[in-house]
Amino acid sequence: MKSNNEKVILSGMRPTGKLHIGHYVGALENWVALQKDYKNYHLIADYHTLTTNLDTTMVFEDSIEMAIDWIASGIDPEKSPIFRQSKIKEHTELFLIFSMLITKARLEKNPTLKEQIKAMNLQTITYGHLGYPVLQAADILLYKGDLVPVGEDQVPHVEITRQIAGVFNEKYCLPDGHSIFPIPEPKITQFARLPGLDGKAKMSKSLDNTILLSDDEEKIKTKMKKAFTDPNKLRKGDKGNPDICLVYTYHKKFNGNEINEIREGCKSGSLGCFDCKMNISSKISGYFAAIREKRAELEQKKKEVLEILEDGENKARSVAVQTMTEVREAMKLG
Ligand code: TRP
Repeated sequence: MKSNNEKVILSGMRPTGKLHIGHYVGALENWVALQKDYKNYHLIADYHTLTTNLDTTMVFEDSIEMAIDWIASGIDPEKSPIFRQSKIKEHTELFLIFSMLITKARLEKNPTLKEQIKAMNLQTITYGHLGYPVLQAADILLYKGDLVPVGEDQVPHVEITRQIAGVFNEKYCLPDGHSIFPIPEPKITQFARLPGLDGKAKMSKSLDNTILLSDDEEKIKTKMKKAFTDPNKLRKGDKGNPDICLVYTYHKKFNGNEINEIREGCKSGSLGCFDCKMNISSKISGYFAAIREKRAELEQKKKEVLEILEDGENKARSVAVQTMTEVREAMKLG
């Protein structure tokens, strides 16, 4: 049995540019905590963006912006390499081999893909889109990831990864009989998704309902004014129902100290929605102040950020090259 600090965690995200506080609560906060106990690799899944968007003009810039948010949030790139998938050719190499180990029918059953097709109203999908969980399997297994921190929607991809690792290990092993790949497990992110400002279940750039990690207090206030509250509470004095109020959800996460007063004030009517929104805006702003400051600093030093990525890519590459050497050996490819 491996101890925790021998276990490898591979976490990944598509580069979508500046991150929002939902990314922080749903993933980053967890990644930062995991650094203490495990060996972590942080992948910027830039090739994955091609599955749903062939316009690549923003991919480079979006990757840098995302790395800035990761570092500002507390990922220590010295300890936990941050790297772009497209900079390490071994990902595509292992992807090719893995694509022979899983059937088309199995990939077509993937519920996450089905949902994506429905949500985007796609009439047809590309070969690469169907196969992207196989690329994800290569992302994870190149670094011999034991654990993959993911939300529910990504669990099917970890299952595909487990299946591929199992098939590979059964067919090929090192001359001494050892398997190359671990069978990774999903590590489900604890906190529920942070709802969007419009009351939708999820914050998302495409829904334009986000608070960005880079937003300052003024910006948060402006956005918060439009946030969804109890529709029956029209003015101060009206009794509200905090349990159906989005702003109350934010208080629960970011203003635990005052939660009872907020709840009672809303229910009795003594607290108006405007004041409640201004209060939570300043709490959210305070909660992220240090991150915002650090990210603003890094924005001025993008060259250094790029160097951090290149350093992470060198570290990741040496692991990836070693794994591919083993794969070739096991497959007797010479
Ligand atoms: N597929 C993931 C997403 O769309 C991103 C991703 C790519 C990933 N490779 C990964 C996540 C490896 C975890 C591990 O969000």
